[in-house]
Order: sequence, then C-alpha cells, then structure tokens
Amino acid sequence: MEAAPKLLVAKDIYKNYGAIPVLKGVSLEISKGELVSVVGASGAGKSTLLYVVSSLEKADKGSLFFEGQDIAQLSNKALAQYRNEHIGFVFQFHHLLPEFTALENICIPGWIGKKAKKQLEKKALELLDFMGLADKAAKKPNSLSGGEQQRIAVARALINDPHLIFADEPTGNLDSENAIALHELFIQLRDTMNQSFLIVTHNESLADRCNRKLTMKDGIIL
Ligand SMILES: Nc1ncnc2c1ncn2[C@@H]1O[C@H](COP(=O)(O)OP(=O)(O)OP(=O)(O)O)[C@@H](O)[C@H]1O
Ligand SMILES: [Mg+2]
Repeated sequence: MEAAPKLLVAKDIYKNYGAIPVLKGVSLEISKGELVSVVGASGAGKSTLLYVVSSLEKADKGSLFFEGQDIAQLSNKALAQYRNEHIGFVFQFHHLLPEFTALENICIPGWIGKKAKKQLEKKALELLDFMGLADKAAKKPNSLSGGEQQRIAVARALINDPHLIFADEPTGNLDSENAIALHELFIQLRDTMNQSFLIVTHNESLADRCNRKLTMKDGIIL
C-alpha cells in the first residue's frame, strides 16, 4: 500500500519574539487522515508552533511545505488563497460574527473563496445536520450554547473541504461534557471523512486518542 501523502512538512523551524527564542528547531510532519495533538506546559511554544506551521506567522528560520509545495516560493496572495482553499482553523474562542446566522457564519470562508451561494448553503446545511444542529441554522451565535458555537466554528472550518485543520485549544473554553462531544466530533471526522488535524490541547484524554501526541517543552518537541 502506498504511504499517505504528506500534507505538512516543517523542518527545523526557529522563531523568536524580540530577543526571546520561542521555537528552537522544531520539525514535524502530518500525513493525510492523521489526527495529531500538541501538548505541553503553558508558554512551551505550542500556539506559536501552530501559527508558524499554518503559515499565519513567518518563521525566522526553517522550511515549510504544504503538500510538497515550498511556501517560501509562494506570493502572499497565492499563500492566502491556498489557506482559504485548503486549510481550516478552529480557535479557543470561536470568533463567530455576531450579526450573522449560524448558517451564514459557516458559509463565510466559501464566500471569500467566491463559491456559488446555493451550493455553499447546501453544504453548510449538511454540516449542521452532521453536527446535530440542523435546527439552529437561522440562529445568531449569541443565542447558542458555547458547545454549539464551537461546533459551528468547526463546521465553518470544514466548509471548503480543507485538507488540514489547525485547532488551538478548541475545547479550552468548554465544560467537560462539551469538550468530550467535540473530541468525538474530531475523531468521527477523521474516521468518516479521513480529515486531518493538528490540535493544540491541554486535554490529555483528547491527546491520548490522537494518532500521535507531540509534547513541547521550552520551544522544542521532545
Ligand atoms: N506575539 C508575541 N510577542 C512576544 N512574545 C510572545 C508572543 N506570542 C508568544 N510569546 C511568548 O512566547 C512564548 C510561547 O508562547 P505560546 O503562546 O506559543 O505558548 P503556549 O505553549 O501556546 O502556551 P499556552 O498553553 O499558555 O497557550 C511565551 O513565553 C510567550 O510569552
Ligand atoms: Mg497557546
């Protein structure tokens, strides 16, 4: 059997904030269908790693390849387009737009990608249904629970069929019941859609259920 294609290859990444070294030579790879977690103490550099390897922040040194493409070779515009089309993001705070309905919030990355409105809405409704939120399509975020808002944020991350989803403490703001439900959702997305993830978490039970658990300490992966 052929090995799963590498979605992400990061090699020997360094990043300083001012004079402070935060990433000190980090390498990692993620293959299609893998759910990979990053754990470690507060301040270890987990979020910085996530932002750098997702290309939201630039490394000071090292290389980053998305599906074999060296991102250093891409213009800012081409990189932004790649991110919109192929990468999904989920953060600790969902960043849903309060003026828009759940359905509209899910559609936003598709609008940015100039996809057909009707098709997007159909896909968004399917995702809502998958999340068990079909009846919430017309609700504004502030009338949804925290767990529901976070599932909407996951649906938004999925609308463009991303190859890879980056999540920074997606369950950090949820009670344990909702956190477990979100874990189940990630695992279900991996198992049914072969969805790939890199997830920063403090949650050991989520981390232990991933294909791989990376532990960061003082700017390196142990
Ligand atoms: N924008 C920034 N400017 C300056 N220093 C920063 C910046 N972002 C992070 N740092 C510093 O880099 C170090 C690593 O921060 P980072 O946010 O990556 O840690 P973390 O592992 O995600 O921690 P936590 O678990 O608390 O979220 C910390 O010492 C932090 O103060
Ligand atoms: Mg962090």
